Amino acid sequence: MKAILLAGGLGSRLFPATKNISKQLLPIFDKPMVYYPLSLLMLAEIRDVLIITSPEDKNSFERMLGDGSHLGMRLEYAAQNVPNGIAKAFEIGADFIGSERVCLVLGDNLFYGDTVKPLMLKAKAAQLGATVFGYKVPDPQRYGVVAFDQSLNAISIEEKPSKPKSNFAVTGLYFYDQDVVSIAQSIVPSARGEYEITSINQAYLQAGQLSVELLDEDVTWFDAGTHESLREATNFVADTQRTECETIACLEVIAFQNSWISLNDLECIANSYPQSDYRQHLIETILNETPLL
Ligand code: TTP
Repeated sequence: MKAILLAGGLGSRLFPATKNISKQLLPIFDKPMVYYPLSLLMLAEIRDVLIITSPEDKNSFERMLGDGSHLGMRLEYAAQNVPNGIAKAFEIGADFIGSERVCLVLGDNLFYGDTVKPLMLKAKAAQLGATVFGYKVPDPQRYGVVAFDQSLNAISIEEKPSKPKSNFAVTGLYFYDQDVVSIAQSIVPSARGEYEITSINQAYLQAGQLSVELLDEDVTWFDAGTHESLREATNFVADTQRTECETIACLEVIAFQNSWISLNDLECIANSYPQSDYRQHLIETILNETPLL
């Protein structure tokens, strides 16, 4: 399976913080926002990732993450010239996707919780259809909203409805079969002029091919697209890292845990980094993995 990490867009709600820098390069506490969705793809054990950015920011992302070989990954980059919708990711990424199934993650989404990885692996294993993830929110009108019948079968998905039929937002993580590229080509822009991911999900729902997994209350999800949600996400990462003594979205450690790089590789990377809490976490991982003589 391949993946697209969508990190373009305008970031207008974060203006003026985004005046000269892409939203997904802004930090959530101690690391760039894009580390969080990239780490999610790594937890799903997906190594081939296309990162789509605005044309102005493509070089910055490439400078930061390179070709991914230091993580045992293959990262490619493409630009979205006009930010005219999330569903356009599949047109831009059509050659990259080829005839494979594909996961899409939005570059401003952060997921945290033990059940996320098994749910992603289940979605990844499904050969047919699409899987999306619902999360209970107090303000569903900001999102795509999924509603259910009494047996918890999804019956509707609506984009930013003024009268939401449920409190379940569709999060920015999606798994699709090979049909997604042709479905994306067939959709029309919404009233606000965007090619909506919700239109793709509606097509799968109408075909009886959409699974909706609900994320339980142990999972934390942020869409860090507003000043307030960015602040909340920053506080969450800072607090969780302190209380759990861990580093969320530490790319190099996940690459090592996936056996994509060796302990020696991890050591070389740690030695190349400046003194920082992030480097210290790599060193602690190496020490924990080194047998006592
Ligand atoms: P949004 O947060 O919906 O849009 P935005 O990032 O442009 O921000 P704002 O509404 O404040 O102007 O986008 C969700 C994610 O999808 C985010 O990571 C940006 C990305 N995106 C694109 O890459 N291209 C697009 O055309 C759109 C609409 C979003």
